[in-house]
Amino acid sequence: MKIKEYLQQQKLLIDQALNDYLPGLTERPEVLHQAMRYSVLSNGKRIRPILLLATYQALNGTANVVPAACSLEFIHCFSLIHDDLPIMDNDDYRRGILTCHKKFGDAIALLAGDALLTHAFQIIAKEQSKYTSASIVVKLIKELAEATSTQGIMGGQAVDILAEKDFTLHCAETLEYIHRQKTAALLVAAVRMGAILAKATDRQLQLLGEAAGKIGLAYQIKDDILDITGDQVLLGKATGRDEALGKLTYPVIYGLDYATARCKELLAEAVSLLDFLGNSGTRLRILFRFLVERRY
Ligand code: IPE
Ligand code: IPE
Ligand code: MG
Ligand code: MG
Ligand code: MG
Repeated sequence: MKIKEYLQQQKLLIDQALNDYLPGLTERPEVLHQAMRYSVLSNGKRIRPILLLATYQALNGTANVVPAACSLEFIHCFSLIHDDLPIMDNDDYRRGILTCHKKFGDAIALLAGDALLTHAFQIIAKEQSKYTSASIVVKLIKELAEATSTQGIMGGQAVDILAEKDFTLHCAETLEYIHRQKTAALLVAAVRMGAILAKATDRQLQLLGEAAGKIGLAYQIKDDILDITGDQVLLGKATGRDEALGKLTYPVIYGLDYATARCKELLAEAVSLLDFLGNSGTRLRILFRFLVERRY
């Protein structure tokens, strides 16, 4: 199966489950549920859930791990809603439609983000415990919490904002910190959660986590590149925003050519860390390649 077909098929599966796990539109408080559903059920790539599923399958897992996969998308959508707020990146479009705050106002968007963050943990505790042991559920929660903490998304987003237009912070070390925390951390959690569910060994977990860290860094570098070279319609969001906001990005520090070369380098390093998977790692390797070669 070609990667595009695979992604489409997996996205369909995830979209259906996200719809089922979100609170209903007629439940009170309706407008908050509307905002959550509006943002989550918009046209996202579902990369993080798909990474969990692909890792799980590469390790020969066969159970239903979709609830755990969905929890990653809830966290991701929370981070996007807050990232787009006027006090953060101040963006009007996301996934081809108005951002949550443009549609529902700042207060509801803030609350929808908060609600999705807690919803992720609720779903994992409630649904996943139907399929796996309590000790695994605790490990999954630990991965999600770490990836979202000040050691993960929150830390990266805080420094991203602090570094806006503060050129004294514009150095290679801070840049890598931001990208690893704000974006790679959740991709690492996705892969590690897939591995934990498949009962991977500590060594396998370490190799997969390291590979995901590299591909996660490349994923954000590619996002920086697409903000300059990408197509707004294909991306579903405005381009040129990083320059307008004075963001610290890979192209700012290294230029487009080196940023592109660094993506390739990280892909090769990440893929070689998957050698231990042999043939069962083929799909995951192809997925890794898509993550850095994507145009949207
Ligand atoms: C956008 O994430 C923000 C980043 C962390 C790069 P995606 O590119 O995965 O966005 P969606 O979920 O497909 O909309
Ligand atoms: C966002 O990075 C990373 C998050 C954790 C939300 P960006 O601010 O570059 O993401 P986009 O370009 O708005 O999607
Ligand atoms: Mg941002
Ligand atoms: Mg942004
Ligand atoms: Mg960006």
